[in-house]
This record gives sequence, structure tokens and C-alpha cells, in this order.
Amino acid sequence: MAAVPNVTLNDGVEIPQLGFGTFQIPADDTQRAVEEALAIGYRHIDTAAIYGNEEGVGRALAASGLKRDEYFVTTKLWNNQHLGDQAVIGINASLEKLALDHLDLYLIHWPAVVKYGDAYIQAWDALQGFQFDGLTRSIGVSNFNIEHLNKLTGTVPSINQIELHPTLTQPGLTAELARRGIVAEAWSPLGRGEDLTNPELVSIAAEIGKTPAQIVIRWHIQIGNVVIPKSVTPSRIAENFDVFDFELTPEQVAAITALNKDYRTGADPATADF
Ligand SMILES: NC(=O)c1ccc[n+]([C@@H]2O[C@H](COP(=O)([O-])OP(=O)(O)OC[C@H]3O[C@@H](n4cnc5c(N)ncnc54)[C@H](OP(=O)(O)O)[C@@H]3O)[C@@H](O)[C@H]2O)c1
Repeated sequence: MAAVPNVTLNDGVEIPQLGFGTFQIPADDTQRAVEEALAIGYRHIDTAAIYGNEEGVGRALAASGLKRDEYFVTTKLWNNQHLGDQAVIGINASLEKLALDHLDLYLIHWPAVVKYGDAYIQAWDALQGFQFDGLTRSIGVSNFNIEHLNKLTGTVPSINQIELHPTLTQPGLTAELARRGIVAEAWSPLGRGEDLTNPELVSIAAEIGKTPAQIVIRWHIQIGNVVIPKSVTPSRIAENFDVFDFELTPEQVAAITALNKDYRTGADPATADF
């Protein structure tokens, strides 16, 4: 099986383009799921403080025997920790739970403007300090719209992790990220599974002899997204990784991109009230 390509971020850090998502994996099942993923070959794990499963991720990494520079870990600062010492408390708690001395990527999870106003601007200052201090190799944001990005000062985020899948392609935001040199990372890249019964995808999958999930992950890869599908199911964890032995034609890529209907499975960053 071909290797997962790396994407080089604007700070020179390399991130494996395909990673393993862990949202909604229960704490007591996380070590098993992440161990499955590592055994299959995933070397990039996405978690967050709010997922409550960083300890399981850390246990799986420790049990893997992999060296620290052989895997890439992302976690995220939760919304109620944007201000003052809270961000420091947040990153230290994540490092402790993951049993790591540094992260590869630390993200502000949401701008959270409805509940916390402009506090995320101060959180961004804190993240720049964490990168300077070596607590994380790269820093980025998640769920930021252009108006939120515009208020940040200093370092340009390396990544914006946003909801992206065939029925939500966010063309305006992704074009602006590309213009600014910010990599788009797709959360809910399979539309939480909902996109996978789309007849166009089913038909392309049948033509190629792959599954709809593999077609969607391959589409993300070919359009340059970093992509982090989640599954607790061993066969699917393997299936989602087996996307490097075929290529979509430009016409197939365009047909999948044309499935956009601005359909969000999750919250809209402009109105999220948590
Ligand atoms: N930054 C943010 O605000 C944010 C928000 C949401 C998610 N995320 C990140 O993005 C990751 C992925 O997003 P997500 O978990 O919401 O959704 P997703 O990866 O789009 O979809 C996961 C769902 O699809 C199913 N699935 C996975 N592979 C499949 C396959 N090959 N065939 C059929 N069904 C399949 C899974 O079922 P089973 O698990 O039952 O197999 C699960 O129900 C998260 O885990 C998290 O790391 C970030």
C-alpha cells in the first residue's frame, strides 16, 4: 500500500494528509480504536480536550512502541479556556492526559463568539506562546470563518479544521484559506456517514471497485484537504486507509465537488452557542 503523503504547513511542519478522528469514541473504547488505527498504519490522530478521550489516545500511543517523531497528534483548546491562565491550564491538562511533552498541532476548537465574544483573539496570543515555548510544533484554528481569521494578529494559523464533505464544500472559505496559505482540514469528512448513500458516489464507487467512503476520502486527498475520518469499526478503519491505489479522474472529482448543497451535520460557527 502506498504511503500517506505529507502536507507541508506554512510553518514548515509536515502533517500526514490522512489521519484518524476520535470524536464520539467513548473514553473506554479509545485505546482499542487508536491501537487498531496505528496497527493499520495511521500515524496522525485527532482528538480534543472536550472529547474526554485524550487519555485513551495517550495509552494507545505509549503501547505502540512508536517513537515520538513517528506520529502526529492534534488536540484542541475548549471554548471556556480562551482567557488568561485558562489556556495554559488547558494545554497542560491535554499534555498530561496524552502523556506527551509536546503536541504536533494545537487548535482553538471554536471561535465561540456567541458565548464568549472576542476571547478567541487572546487564545490565539496564548497559542503563539505555546509554539514559541515548544509545547506544540504547529498552531491552528478550527471552525473559523473569514471574519474570525481577520481578527487574529501575529502568526498566520497553519490549519483551519472545518466541516467539509461532498455536500458541504464551503467554496468561499476554502478559496480564501488557500489564498492565505492556511491548509483546510476536513472534519466530518464522510458527512458523519450521511453522504455515503448519495447515488453519484455509489455509482463512482461501483465504477472504480471501491466503497463510497474510499471515494470520498480519495476526493479529499486529491483536492488537497487534510482528512480525518473516524470509525470504531476495525473493517472500516482499514477501508478508510486503503485509498492510495487508485485515482479519481478530474471529471469524477468535479462531479463529487458538484454535490455541494451547503449541508451542515454540525453547528454553524457563526451561531454556535456553546
Ligand atoms: N473541530 C471540530 O469541531 C470537529 C467536529 C467534528 C469532528 N471533528 C473531527 O473530525 C473527525 C471525523 O468527523 P466525525 O467523526 O464527525 O465524522 P465522519 O468521520 O465523517 O463519520 C464518522 C461516521 O461514519 C461512520 N463510518 C466511518 N467509516 C465508514 C465507512 N468506511 N463506511 C461507512 N460508514 C463509516 C462511522 O461509524 P462507526 O464509527 O460506527 O464505524 C461514524 O458513524 C472526528 O472524529 C474529530 O476528530 C472535529
